[in-house]
Amino acid sequence: MSAVEHSAPTPDLARRVFGDHVAQAEEFATFLVDRGVVRGVIGPREVDRLWDRHLLNSAVLSERIPDGARVIDVGSGGGFPGVPVAIVRPDVDMVLLEPMARRIDWLHEVVDRLGLANATVLRGRAEERAVRDSVGTADVVTARALAPLGRLARWCLPLVRQDGSIFALKGESAADEIGRDAHEIRSAGGLDPVVLQCGSGVLERPTTVVRIRKGGPRAGRSRRKRA
Ligand SMILES: C[S@@+](CC[C@H](N)C(=O)[O-])C[C@H]1O[C@@H](n2cnc3c(N)ncnc32)[C@H](O)[C@@H]1O
Repeated sequence: MSAVEHSAPTPDLARRVFGDHVAQAEEFATFLVDRGVVRGVIGPREVDRLWDRHLLNSAVLSERIPDGARVIDVGSGGGFPGVPVAIVRPDVDMVLLEPMARRIDWLHEVVDRLGLANATVLRGRAEERAVRDSVGTADVVTARALAPLGRLARWCLPLVRQDGSIFALKGESAADEIGRDAHEIRSAGGLDPVVLQCGSGVLERPTTVVRIRKGGPRAGRSRRKRA
């Protein structure tokens, strides 16, 4: 199938979720369909579920993000969840962090094409010292399909301000993952990992998110001693 045979009609729900920003979301969807498939940013099978599984599913995360927050989307890839969140929340300062050159090119093009003044693109890996030094910290770190929770906590908690949070989009096994990786999360300084739903009462299938709070500098050590 050629790229021009794909289409992703805008569902009514998109207007409800993206509100005044739906045109930018449609632009992103069109760009993904026209150019993202041939460039391997999304698989051809994702076109039919582009809105449900990607755009809407990501955008509803914004309900958990405080006003005016600085957000780092780690492993942004084709732009999820960072781009839909930046579209729906112009008050948020969004950094799209990604190590792969061709995805960085893609993200720059997306930001330019959509005129996303609140988003910047940065190349690198979350755990690299140089990246940590240049990106600094944020109120919220988001991630989807990045890594198991324990590793994700190790990579991402240093990018979170004290009292900030990681929001990791996860599937049905989120609670099991918390149980399995609890020790690693605590050791990394993560507190109170919990499964939350975003988009309840809006999406047919709400987005499952694990929130991990960032404790103080001694959180990991003191809790480990008590365990
Ligand atoms: C499976 S893709 C998911 C992309 C996007 N978040 C999504 O859900 O569509 C994982 C992404 O994380 C990036 N990645 C892998 N390790 C990383 C690291 N240590 N720091 C930042 N990004 C990383 C990869 O290059 C890739 O783009």
